[in-house]
This record gives sequence, C-alpha cells and structure tokens, in this order.
Amino acid sequence: MAHFTLYCTRVLPDPVMTAIRARFALVHEPLDHPPSREELAQGFAQADAVISTLAEHVDHTVLACASRLKIIANYAVGYNNIDVVAAGQRGIVVSNTPDVLTDATADLTWALLLAVTRRVVEGDRWLRTGQWPGWAPTQMLGGDLTGKTLGIIGMGRIGQAVALRAAGFRMPVLYTSRRPVAVPAGLSWTRCSLDEVLTQSDFLSLHVPLTDTTRHLIGAHELQSMKPTACLINTSRGAVIDETALVTALETGLIAGAGLDVYEHEPAIHATLTRRANVVLLPHLGSATLETRIRMGMICLTNIAAVLSGKPAPNRVG
Ligand code: DGY
Repeated sequence: MAHFTLYCTRVLPDPVMTAIRARFALVHEPLDHPPSREELAQGFAQADAVISTLAEHVDHTVLACASRLKIIANYAVGYNNIDVVAAGQRGIVVSNTPDVLTDATADLTWALLLAVTRRVVEGDRWLRTGQWPGWAPTQMLGGDLTGKTLGIIGMGRIGQAVALRAAGFRMPVLYTSRRPVAVPAGLSWTRCSLDEVLTQSDFLSLHVPLTDTTRHLIGAHELQSMKPTACLINTSRGAVIDETALVTALETGLIAGAGLDVYEHEPAIHATLTRRANVVLLPHLGSATLETRIRMGMICLTNIAAVLSGKPAPNRVG
C-alpha cells in the first residue's frame, strides 16, 4: 500500500498512527486541530484515501477537489458530516466504524444519566469551593433510578447496549425503533410510539443517527410531552434536539434536567446550558476511550485496505 497516499485529517492514537505510517505515504502530518476548509480541500485533492472525523464537513465543494480519491473512512459511527450521495456519484466509497464504540458510548450515556440524577458534577463543584459545611439530611437530594422507566429513542446497537445496562437498575425500557428488537430473557423492553415513550419515561436517551428525518426530532412539542421530573440524555448528535427549545424547557421547568455529550452547533454551546446546575455537559466523549479510539482507527485502515485492493469495504455506508 506504500504507493497510495493517505490524508488523515487529525492526529489519531499512537498505535493507529504507527499502522498508518507503516502502510501509506501521508499527504502531510496530521493536525492536532481541525483543518480549515482550504486545508481540507487540499488534502482531499492529493489523496487516494482519507480518514476524516465528524468535525470535518465533507460537502460537494470538498469532494469536487478529490480527483483520485477512492475512499473516505470516517472515524466515527455517525457520518452526517459527509455528503454520502455526492461521494457515491463520484465513485468514492464512504465507510464508518460501527460496533467498536457501542459499549464506550453506552457507558458514557449512563455516566451522564447518573451524573444528572445524583448531582455528581454539582457536588464536585461545591466541594472545590471549600464551602461545604458537612453532611446534612436534606442536602443536594437527587432522585432514585431503580424501578424508574427508561425511554430510548432509536434501538440500534448503542440503544440496546444502553437498555441492557438498565437491567442493573431494574428499570423497564420503552423504546422506539423502525423494527422490534429481540428482547433478552427476563428483561422488560417494550416498543412504543414516540408519544408513549415521551409521556411515560423518567429518563429519555437518544440513539438515532442525524438525518433529515431526525433533525430536531426533540423540539418544543416533544419536550412539552415529557414528565416535568424527566431527564433528557443525548449522546447521539446535537441537532437531534432543538437546542433553543431545550433551553426554554429547562428554564421553564418543562423537564428536570439534561445530560449532553453533543451539541447542535459544535463546538459552540448555548450559553444558558453552561449556567444551569441541572445540566451536565461533556465535550463529545462518547467513543473517547483509548481502546475504542484505537479500534476505530484500525477499522478505518481495514476499509481503506479493502477498497484500495479492489475489494468491497466491510463497513460501507450509503
Ligand atoms: C461517533 O462515532 O459517531 C461518535 O460520535 C464519535 O465519538
């Protein structure tokens, strides 16, 4: 593969970079910051294969520069950052990294859910001020998880991994999905309409890809339907929620709290969210474990190797 040129938009974990350098010539050293539009277009123009990340917007303008490009291996399971149709029209394969980040993302979903419900971040912040007067019976009370209802919007791999973890809290799961899923023995997973999930859940967790259909899936009307005691958790894509409507819902008490790993206009975050105690915010860490990020890189390389040797990409999308 050494005669093929790879454009890797960002620095990836060391084992992945070592594997890349052993197999390909690089267009240039990967950046530790997002490339500008010009840098992105220049990289695409010189590459036989690209490893892109969700932070790069690969639209028809960028694709128009890609005269020799065979594959874009997106370093993410989501691929809403790429115009897959335009890539297909140019004969460019697009692949993603499914499966390997399922558990990491499901774990982080629970980290957010627990953090919001038990006020973990708020408590940590308080202690760091040096103002904690000591234990008190009514201090910083959160809510129980056990026995509460977990609503899951999108019961794909990650949605199911989140649902499996709910068994430890004896939480029944209501979910929406295009198709019913196989329910593991002994678990209570019920497929419902969106409206039923919204109105009956104590926690609502989003696990749909961002598409034209799911953009602003959770807006003012949906937030209005939720219980005032409910918490909304999002580790999918920010724009699945209408962020302005969410801010209003939090400010007016339509819902009790939110745990967010993703934002509608990343890396910008609605200022009000950063000021609210009932919101926990993370910087898009869903897949951010070293093991997972290495596996994601290796999947990108597997797909690139397949396409450059004339074989189908195992994780082709679109
Ligand atoms: C994905 O793979 O889509 C994640 O959001 C990346 O962390």
